[in-house]
Amino acid sequence: MLINRKIITFGIAAVCLALAGAIIWLENADAVKADKPISIVTTIKSDPATSRAFTWHTRWAGLETVVQLVKGNEPTFENSNEVLMFYGQSSEVRIEKGSIRGVHRAEATGLKPGTEYTYRVGDGKEGGWSKAATFRTASALSANEAVTFINVTDSQGTTRHDFKLWGNTLNKAFQLFPDAAFIVHNGDLTEDPIREESWTAFFEQPQKWLTSVPLMPVTGNHDEVDGDSSIFSSHFNVPANGAEGSNEGTTYSFDYGNVHFVMLNTESNIKGQTEWLRQNLSRSDKQWTIVSIHRGAYGGNMYKKIKEWVKIFDEYGVDLVLQGHNHEYSRSFPLRGGDIVRDGEGTVYVTTNASGPKLNEKKEDQFYHRAHFQKGKPMFAGITVKDDTLSFKAYDIDGGLLDQFTLKH
Ligand SMILES: [Fe+2]
Repeated sequence: MLINRKIITFGIAAVCLALAGAIIWLENADAVKADKPISIVTTIKSDPATSRAFTWHTRWAGLETVVQLVKGNEPTFENSNEVLMFYGQSSEVRIEKGSIRGVHRAEATGLKPGTEYTYRVGDGKEGGWSKAATFRTASALSANEAVTFINVTDSQGTTRHDFKLWGNTLNKAFQLFPDAAFIVHNGDLTEDPIREESWTAFFEQPQKWLTSVPLMPVTGNHDEVDGDSSIFSSHFNVPANGAEGSNEGTTYSFDYGNVHFVMLNTESNIKGQTEWLRQNLSRSDKQWTIVSIHRGAYGGNMYKKIKEWVKIFDEYGVDLVLQGHNHEYSRSFPLRGGDIVRDGEGTVYVTTNASGPKLNEKKEDQFYHRAHFQKGKPMFAGITVKDDTLSFKAYDIDGGLLDQFTLKH
């Protein structure tokens, strides 16, 4: 009897184990078969009122690149009459240990201004879609409408734990600036661009923001290493209007409302960008000009290799230069020709500490520093441009206001 009971118990346990194994195997097989999109992010590639660009990766290369959109905030993709479909481009990128990942870039165009859309991305097959997310196109901005955006820099983590801080920095930023229309990141997104887990965590932690609010990136020395920015660039679909000779996606410009933004790459092709910058600024008809760079012309110290760019900033009256790299907070007096000038007559250079775990000690004060500190917490800035006034407010991750100023035209 006892032996029989033992055999029955053993039999039941074996069946349970086999079933559990089969369920796990089926789940894994399904995830691999589906190859769901990862690292989904939206960007501005052309007019923010009528378009939105998307980028994502897949574990395998060679899959289709499809975006579906419906108006409103309900995912009703099954009603095919109202679903907009956009097909993008698939490519591949080589990551750590020689592995290949699928890269997918697409752009939805012809959208209605000031309108909410829900979208999903994937390979167009059932089981291959991302979760749905929602975004709003810019309103057809009149010249005097306010534009608010978030500025961050040097999220520069390695582990998921590191990127929790970056996620929390953006959570606080959007709590204080819920109407922010996009994010400008001044470079060094991860510590080591070859590490895939870092990129996954970079996009995953603030997923709800990055799938709905465009992230406009700048290339840092941890994004372009030994002249190679291919992994960094593979994560973004930005305007293809950059300088000849620069790595793809590392130099570009875009307009939002009455502001012209120029993103430069301090890591390579500096000479090649100088004439491009001049041409680019000479063509802008926007009231405000903001430049974003990684190594600061006037940060914790001066990056002298870009002094020709500074001359052009002076020549075209660039209002604000957003910088990174030093992992401390600094704001310059208005500067022109290397000298301090009166408010409204020069360019202000700001480095908003870092948005991730790596904070440096404050460097020595320089003649151009109007504000210069390290208060030991990750930071972000909320910037609003309205009519002839730019308002800049820098906060720490807990919402403490650490610096603020306004610029007037
Ligand atoms: Fe950095």
